[in-house]
Formats: sequence, C-alpha cells, structure tokens
Amino acid sequence: MSFTAAVLTLYPEMFPGPLGTSLAGRALAEGKWALDAVQIRDFAADRHRSVDDTPAGGGAGMVMRADVLATALDATAARHPALPILAMTPRGAPLAQARVRRLADGPGALILCGRFEGIDQRLFDARAIEEVSIGDYILSGGEMAALTLLDACIRLLPGVMGAASSGDDESFETGLLEYPHYTRPTTWEGRTIPQVLRSGDHARIDAWRKAEAETITRLRRPDLWERHGGAPGRSPSGARHEDGTKS
Ligand code: ADE
Repeated sequence: MSFTAAVLTLYPEMFPGPLGTSLAGRALAEGKWALDAVQIRDFAADRHRSVDDTPAGGGAGMVMRADVLATALDATAARHPALPILAMTPRGAPLAQARVRRLADGPGALILCGRFEGIDQRLFDARAIEEVSIGDYILSGGEMAALTLLDACIRLLPGVMGAASSGDDESFETGLLEYPHYTRPTTWEGRTIPQVLRSGDHARIDAWRKAEAETITRLRRPDLWERHGGAPGRSPSGARHEDGTKS
C-alpha cells in the first residue's frame, strides 16, 4: 500500500494543488502516494449543510461543529483505519523533521483542516487527534498547512527524489542548517566560489562544509545549535567571538 493522504476539508479543490506538480505530482501519477480529499460539508445533516455555528460564550467568528466533523472523520477513518489522525491548527505541536520522517515511514495520514475561529473542543476530547502546527503564525485555514506537511513527507517516500541520498544531508536531518551552495559561473559580479570547493580535496571540502553549517546554525538558530550540543557564542573550534560573528 502506498502512502495515503486522506484530507478532510471544506475546500477539497485545493488538493492536490501544488502537490499535483513537480516531484510530488509525478509520484502521485505513479501511485507512490494516494490522495482522498473529502468534503466535510457532505456530512452535514441539516438542509443548509451547515458545518459551523456561533461560539458558545460569545465572541467573533464561527466554530466548526463537533458533530459534523466527527461524522466526517469516522466515515473517513473507517475507509483508512491504519492512518494516524492529525488536525492542522496553530495551537498544535510544532512540526519538525523528525515527525515528518516518522509519518513518511508510516501508512500516511488522515488530516483534518480547520477553518473559522477553530474546532469545537469536544471533538479533540472524544477522538484521538494529534494537533499539528506548521509555525507561529495564523493561516486562513489548515489546508496550506496540510499541503506543507504532505510535501515534506512525500519528498521522503522511496523513489520520489531524483538522487536517493539527496535528503540525508539536508537541514534538520543533521540537526544543523545547511552549508552554503555554489555553482558555475566561478566568478559572478566579482564574487568567486570559495577556493576550497574548487580544490578537489574532498576531506577538506567536507570539513569546510561542516564548519560552515555549524557557524550558520550558531548564528541564525541558537536554539538548534544548543540542541546540537554547541555552546552559545562559540565557533565550532571552540573560539569565542565577542560580536557573535565568525573570524
Ligand atoms: N491553521 C491556521 N494556522 C495554522 C498553522 N500555523 N499551522 C497549522 N494549521 C494552521
């Protein structure tokens, strides 16, 4: 069975969207992953097909109804019993590469996309749903977040990326941000590719890339650098820099 994305949304036409192009699109056509985009509104019981209502206790906006969502979720989960159930919400656990890799190694995901002010809490209390956020900012709905999560998973599926190993080296797999990349022309606007990369000495190149990755991580993402085991304000060699920059 290929990786399956079952997506519950008020906007199924947003799927596969960008995931229908490029590597993910080709992989979809080749059956390396499958998509089941489900219209939540189809599970509304009233003649207005309503999926939301005003917030209990007052306030702005509308809240997605637990009863309609549960009916949609249960019907979809019955078709895809092996899939973990996620909901894209800004209050979820921040998405990171380790979670992406575990999802990509599994059967797929059933993803609930929230809209409006949020989802009736009772749905989360009554069903095993993992809330996931893609960052500390508010999107107009969970769909773009679901597309982001799926893109991150799909590129890791076997046979999806051109060079099978090109994912291993990247940011967050190593716990570090990536080293800088260069390609021809050798000189552009007076800027020349670092000599070491043109030396052909692969041991030196590896050492240079590692040092650059460490320096960039230390300067840009002290949180990642600390988790990686680095000391704040120290270069990979251990030398301290007063101004926080590399020598
Ligand atoms: N829905 C709205 N904002 C979101 C976010 N930052 N992450 C996941 N889902 C969302």
